Amino acid sequence: MTTTLAVANQKGGVAKTTSVASIGAALAELGHKVLLVDLDPQACLTFSLGIDPEDLELSVHHVLTKGLDPSEAVLETEDGVDLLPATIELARAEAELLTRTGREQVLKGVLEDLADGDEATAYDWIILDCPPSLGVLTVAALTAADGVLVPLQCETLSHRGVGQLLDTVHDVRRFTNRGLEVWGVLPTLFDGRTNHSRTVLETISDTYDLDVVEPPIPKTIKFAEAPAAGRSILATSRSSKGAKAYREVAENLVRRAARPAAKKKATRAR
Ligand SMILES: Nc1ncnc2c1ncn2[C@@H]1O[C@H](COP(=O)(O)OP(=O)(O)OP(=O)(O)O)[C@@H](O)[C@H]1O
Ligand SMILES: [Mg+2]
Repeated sequence: MTTTLAVANQKGGVAKTTSVASIGAALAELGHKVLLVDLDPQACLTFSLGIDPEDLELSVHHVLTKGLDPSEAVLETEDGVDLLPATIELARAEAELLTRTGREQVLKGVLEDLADGDEATAYDWIILDCPPSLGVLTVAALTAADGVLVPLQCETLSHRGVGQLLDTVHDVRRFTNRGLEVWGVLPTLFDGRTNHSRTVLETISDTYDLDVVEPPIPKTIKFAEAPAAGRSILATSRSSKGAKAYREVAENLVRRAARPAAKKKATRAR
């Protein structure tokens, strides 16, 4: 059984990509087979896993718009996860998809093809790194996902946009993916020294009735260093607070994935 998780927030710079890379590496450490999908034309996930997008001939763009078999574009990375990489060409894919019927379903179809391929390559987790927008790629990701995790920087005004994201989730549930569940918000860039972060987090989770995925990811300079090394923080800074926090988050996500009863309740629209 594959669990597909979209990591989405249309707000930029809230640690979506960092969370995808770190949670992916943490799940791999736990022995899970993981595929990460870069759905951002900026290709930051691809770059941060040590792959230069400019060197790539095949990427997610060809898979989404040219019918390329996804297994031909998937790469292995040093972090122990597989990657369906992106390049700047993905920006064009977004425009091409806009005029195409069934565009919301295109990623879902691709991931199903991948799962049908070879029993031995079946992934335990597929994690989708969404771009900072609510455009066609994010909607395609939400349509392909079992759950959505919303990284959130806990500061004043960070709630702006959460309502809009949840409206999109609601529409996706109505029209393209009835089973989509909101797994909750993941507090990122968290400054535990102030009460402010805590207060903002509580306000947001109360206002929108959202679960909080624990623990919060502390703000630390170590995260700035990891992408340049082409590895996630789990490798570059193994025992840092940030790496530990992501390992705990990964364990909690594994628990969450195994919770069928709560799933039903969570699918109800809010
Ligand atoms: N816990 C953290 N502490 C300090 N810096 C962090 C932390 N998490 C991420 N960062 C840094 O914050 C910046 C934004 O992170 P990231 O690229 O993961 O966000 P994003 O939501 O994917 O951005 P975008 O919306 O542009 O895709 C990066 O420079 C990253 O290194
Ligand atoms: Mg990103």
